[in-house]
Amino acid sequence: MQIDIISVLPELLQGPFAHSILKRAQDKGLVSINLHHLRNYSTNRHRSVDDYAFGPDAGMVLQVEPIYRAIEDLKSRCHYDEIIYTSPDGELLTQKLANELSSKQNIMVLCGHYKGIDHRVREHLITREVSIGDYVLSGGELAAAVIVDSVVRLIPGVLNDETSALSDSFQDNLLAPPVYSRPAVFNGWEVPKVLMSGNFKEIERWQMEQALERTKRLRPHLLDSVDEQ
Ligand code: ADE
Repeated sequence: MQIDIISVLPELLQGPFAHSILKRAQDKGLVSINLHHLRNYSTNRHRSVDDYAFGPDAGMVLQVEPIYRAIEDLKSRCHYDEIIYTSPDGELLTQKLANELSSKQNIMVLCGHYKGIDHRVREHLITREVSIGDYVLSGGELAAAVIVDSVVRLIPGVLNDETSALSDSFQDNLLAPPVYSRPAVFNGWEVPKVLMSGNFKEIERWQMEQALERTKRLRPHLLDSVDEQ
């Protein structure tokens, strides 16, 4: 998979992709993540990419022209299955959407900006708008990092033990059951006995009970949409 990200603050994205699972995925050649600075597509000598909004509202807006030039430049070199814009009013990122995006070949992500972006970009160039939650961030970079992380870890081969993505919370519309490690007793706090029983049937039953109980208590709406995945 190739992921190209356009941003006015690409420095903000260097850290999240340079460590752990996302770094290993790139090292293994399973994904290539490229950051593109929108200012490189400015045509003026100050390299500015924003201007005043038309109308009475104060504030600056990212202009359509540099964004058009950036998107067209990337499109001339690669076919994209989706061109995503990160925005609080986009479709909510869910595990289902992450699964869907992980099966794509190439994705472009345009990071939103707190000042807003010329709406013609959204009307004519973007194929999908994604929000990571009902709150407002200062820019779309952190949202882009969240989207990319949730997608890349699902690409086959990225996680060492593929089943560990299958047992993630949300993967079957259930929250994951609790996990424990050694020591079996710490500070008088005990690991549930069933986990040390060696009885795999019993362990599986306990894990399913826990997953259901936690989902009912913490995310009851997931149980309404069991058939939606
Ligand atoms: N940009 C600002 N807030 C955002 C959010 N919640 N999701 C995606 N992009 C954003």
